[in-house]
Amino acid sequence: MSAVRDNRLLLGGIEAEALAREFGTPLYVYEEEVIRRQARLLRESFAEVAPEFHFALKANFNPALLAILRDEGYGIDAVSPFEVQLALAVGFAPRQVLFTGNNTDERDLRYCLEQGVPVNVGSLVELERYGRLNPGGAVSIRINPDVGAGHHRHVITGGPHSKFGIYFTERERVLTLLAEHRLTLSGVHSHIGTGILQTALMLEAMEIILRTARAFRDLQFVDFGGGFGVPYRPEQAPLPLAELGREMARRFKSFCADYGRPLRMKLEPGRFVVAQSGTLLARVTNISSTPAHRFVGTDSGFNHLIRPVLYGAYHEVVNASAVEGTLENVAVAGNICESGDVFTHADDGIADRPLSAPQVGHLLAFRDAGAYGMVLSSQYNMRPRPAEVLVAGGRARLIRRRETFADLVRNFPDLDAL
Ligand SMILES: Cc1ncc(COP(=O)(O)O)c(C=O)c1O
Repeated sequence: MSAVRDNRLLLGGIEAEALAREFGTPLYVYEEEVIRRQARLLRESFAEVAPEFHFALKANFNPALLAILRDEGYGIDAVSPFEVQLALAVGFAPRQVLFTGNNTDERDLRYCLEQGVPVNVGSLVELERYGRLNPGGAVSIRINPDVGAGHHRHVITGGPHSKFGIYFTERERVLTLLAEHRLTLSGVHSHIGTGILQTALMLEAMEIILRTARAFRDLQFVDFGGGFGVPYRPEQAPLPLAELGREMARRFKSFCADYGRPLRMKLEPGRFVVAQSGTLLARVTNISSTPAHRFVGTDSGFNHLIRPVLYGAYHEVVNASAVEGTLENVAVAGNICESGDVFTHADDGIADRPLSAPQVGHLLAFRDAGAYGMVLSSQYNMRPRPAEVLVAGGRARLIRRRETFADLVRNFPDLDAL
């Protein structure tokens, strides 16, 4: 886990500077120990009901991280056929994967059926489509429980403004479609949002899902999705996970007692498991001032970590070359050709932050970047995606090569001759 030695940041016991020298920058670094710690923390917090955990692969699909989670006994929550294909390639069994697409088409559903991967449908149209493709089969449904939550309005996936799921009021229509296609409803699912740090809305949604679930008599499981948040800002308190786990377990057991038989609980954490394991390292390339800001420019940008620009999300920035020093209020910027390409963003624009003695050539560390970081990266401005490295037991291993010019142009037939 990260610490400081000689005023330099360590990641998994290795100097960030040494990693940057060996693998170059920008560089994503993941600490295996942190992934295992978080995966186990969830398991321990819900121990009373021993849920099946499906890691939400969308949060980070690096196969090396997926292998760690497979080893921790996790399954996979997949949202697209390629996510399914990757999970199977990494060695997850088809039954360990649950496909929850949205606005999926017949090809998506057919692929899952061919692979033997269970499907969780998110609309009445999809339920009907699934019924036609697999009459007499089993399926689960994603419910919109009328409640949503999340760290930004774009990530709220429940409630009347959300495109996800079958509204909980549509029960009769669901029952009709199940009967028409002789489908068995094996599970009820919901996922109300991401980055949630308060338990009240999660519990409220849980109540509505359980109330909905009661109407269906063939259930094998109830899936409460992911959404477990981590604190990004220094003033944020962590999710009271032990308390949440105990309370959800208590309510689930009481539901099963009423239902008349034990059901399995499923959970689909993404962010909670990998966010804190990841750090994006970038080199300071420039420092310049305007009457309003002192800008510290780097060799990365929103093409590698888009969360600040997309959501005004906060990532702690540490000067890995001089962790402590005279603090300067600066805006940390990227090398992308857009004025919004700033890492220290607030909802209403650029926000200055205290950073210790930044100098050109220093290495900056953007913390808690393991979830929805690299997976949301792009090749904008023809900047390649960074390399990724996994640190464990004091050793570092390359787990994704840095992209090259050839990677960026390989799909242009006009350049085949190059
Ligand atoms: C269906 C589903 N399950 C799980 C997750 C994981 O959410 P989180 O990373 O907040 O745990 C998501 C994220 O969007 C999702 O859509």
